[in-house]
Amino acid sequence: MIPQCSPKASYQAHKSEIDGAISRVLESGWYVLGEECQQFEREYANFNQLPYAIGVASGTDAVEIALRGVGVGQGDNVITVSHTAVATAAAIRRIGADPLFVDISADFTMDPKSLQWLIAKLKEPIAAIVVVHLYGHPADMRTIMEIASSNKITVIEDCAQAHGATVEGLPVGSFGEAACYSFYPTKNLAALGDGGMIVCSDEGLYQQCLLLRQYGWRDRANSEIQGFNSRLDEIQAAILRVKLKYLRPANERRREIADYYFQNLADLPLRLPRIAKGAQHVFHQFVIRHSARDDLRSELMNQNIDTAIHYPKPVHRQSAYMNPGYAPMPLIQTDRICQEILSLPMYPQLTQAELELVCNAIHKAMN
Ligand SMILES: Cc1ncc(COP(=O)(O)O)c(C=O)c1O
Repeated sequence: MIPQCSPKASYQAHKSEIDGAISRVLESGWYVLGEECQQFEREYANFNQLPYAIGVASGTDAVEIALRGVGVGQGDNVITVSHTAVATAAAIRRIGADPLFVDISADFTMDPKSLQWLIAKLKEPIAAIVVVHLYGHPADMRTIMEIASSNKITVIEDCAQAHGATVEGLPVGSFGEAACYSFYPTKNLAALGDGGMIVCSDEGLYQQCLLLRQYGWRDRANSEIQGFNSRLDEIQAAILRVKLKYLRPANERRREIADYYFQNLADLPLRLPRIAKGAQHVFHQFVIRHSARDDLRSELMNQNIDTAIHYPKPVHRQSAYMNPGYAPMPLIQTDRICQEILSLPMYPQLTQAELELVCNAIHKAMN
C-alpha cells in the first residue's frame, strides 16, 4: 500500500539527528519551556522573517491565543471559511466568538468577493478575519488585506498547512496581525506529537500571547491575566529544530512531486490544483477534483493506493456548528467541492517508482 501521508517516513529521514535531540533533552532534566523552545522560537521567527514567535501546545491553541491576544472575545463576530480543519472554527468558539463563514475560490481558499459581500451586508461589527492557507496554497492576501484594512478589521492567518509558502516572495503569516502554525505529525513541519506556534511583529501582542500561554504569568508569583496552560514541550521543540533545517528542501520535493502529478495527469478529465500568480504553494496536500470521486477512490484503494478526503463535510454542516447564523450566505463552492475533492499521496519521501505507480493507477481507474 502506498500511504497518502507518512509521519513515520519523515521521522526516519532524520532518525539519528532526532534521536540525538531527544536524548539531549532527556539528559538535560528540563522538559517544558526551556532552552530548546526558546531557540526554536528564534529560529522559526527568523524563518518567517518576523521578530517574535511563541511556542504553544497545538495549532488550535495558537489560533485561540492569537485571537484572544488581539482582543477578540465573547460574542464577537469572526469571519472565516467553512472548508478548513474544524480546528479553525473550534478555536473561534472556544473564546465565545461566533464564526461567520464565507465561500471559497477555486483555489480552495477564502474568496475575497464573498468576504467583501459579507462585510457590506453585516450590520454588526466584525472583530477579526481568520484566513486559512489551506492545503499549502496561500490565500489572496493582497486583496484580503486591502478589504480588511479599508474596513479596519484585524486579520489572523491560519498557516497550519502552509509552513514556508510565500506570496510574491513574502512568507504567509507576514500579512496579518499574527500567524498561527500547527506542528501536528502530518504537517509540512511536523513534531512527533502536538505543537503549535504564533508568530507576529508587534511587541505588545507578543507580550500578551506570552502571558496567555501560561496562566498570565510574567513571574510565577502573580497571574496578571487569566491565561491558559499551552506550552510547547522541550522534546517537541528539539525535534522541530532538526526538522526546520530540512523544511525548505522538503517543500521543494513536495513541489517536484506536484510537478510530476501536473505533467502526468494533465490528459485526464480531472481538475488539478490551481496556483495563483505570485503564490508559492508548499503542497501540504495535492487535491484533485473529480465528479465520480468516490468511485475513483475505491478503484485506487483496490490498486493499493491510499487517498484521503480533506474535508468531507464543511464545518457549517457539522452538528456542533450548524447554527444558521454562522452561514450568512449560500456557500456554493464550499458545498460543491466536498463531493469532488480527493487528496493524492503527498509527502517528501515518496519515491519516483511510487509516483509512477500512483499515476498509472489513476490512468487505469479512469480508462
Ligand atoms: C487549517 C488548520 N488549522 C488549525 C489546525 C489545528 O492544529 P492542531 O491540530 O495542531 O491543533 C489544523 C490542524 O489540524 C489545520 O489544518
